[in-house]
Amino acid sequence: MSIKNKLKKVSQKWWDKWDRDLRDFKKVYPLIEPVPGFLKSPQQEQWFFKAARKAPENAVIVEIGSFQGRSTVSFGLGCSGSNKHIYAIDLFEGDNDMYGAGDFQERFKKHVKDCGVEAYVTPIKQHSLKVATTWDKPIDVLFIDGSHEYEDVKADFEAFYPFVKKDGVVAFHDIKGKWEGVIRFWREVKEAGLLKNTGAVSSLGYGVKV
Ligand SMILES: C[S@@+](CC[C@H](N)C(=O)[O-])C[C@H]1O[C@@H](n2cnc3c(N)ncnc32)[C@H](O)[C@@H]1O
Repeated sequence: MSIKNKLKKVSQKWWDKWDRDLRDFKKVYPLIEPVPGFLKSPQQEQWFFKAARKAPENAVIVEIGSFQGRSTVSFGLGCSGSNKHIYAIDLFEGDNDMYGAGDFQERFKKHVKDCGVEAYVTPIKQHSLKVATTWDKPIDVLFIDGSHEYEDVKADFEAFYPFVKKDGVVAFHDIKGKWEGVIRFWREVKEAGLLKNTGAVSSLGYGVKV
């Protein structure tokens, strides 16, 4: 191993030791691991956990596209011991593809319960745009991972972005890879200057509302 790599390894170890959130995430990751989902693991789950931890007290977290709850429980475990809350919006009908169709709300609820985060999660079995018609809460963290078609991602963003507080966090899944609709819309959001401090964890793009 080169000196550069040795130094990198040592500084990474040092950082890991002192990063409390990371240490805590490592303790809860075995709960998240068995939950089926589409995340690039474990870095993206860690981002959700930390985003929930960093969110202000009483934070409102809105997730569009919860599927079987992998991202939800990652947020949820970051909410442990707080008054933060996640609204998990999904049709809960499965994906008609890799995992098939069916009543996915039962699976979602089981995973949330198995992770011990029921108190922090309200599932909403409805189309995201229908939910938006009656939504009235200021949002601290908005995560968009529903339909990946360009028009749908745009519609989800336009429906919920007005509720995101200044300095609230907005994240999109699948800003890289084969998801042209998400990739195009993510580029447009950045070009329009709607988010600052943008970054990415693999295919998860995030930024802060200006
Ligand atoms: C890629 S999956 C979400 C993955 C999930 N975040 C995870 O961690 O595994 C997309 C989900 O979005 C849901 N969905 C798609 N369009 C929707 C809409 N307009 N309203 C609500 N849910 C929607 C689908 O039912 C599906 O479960």
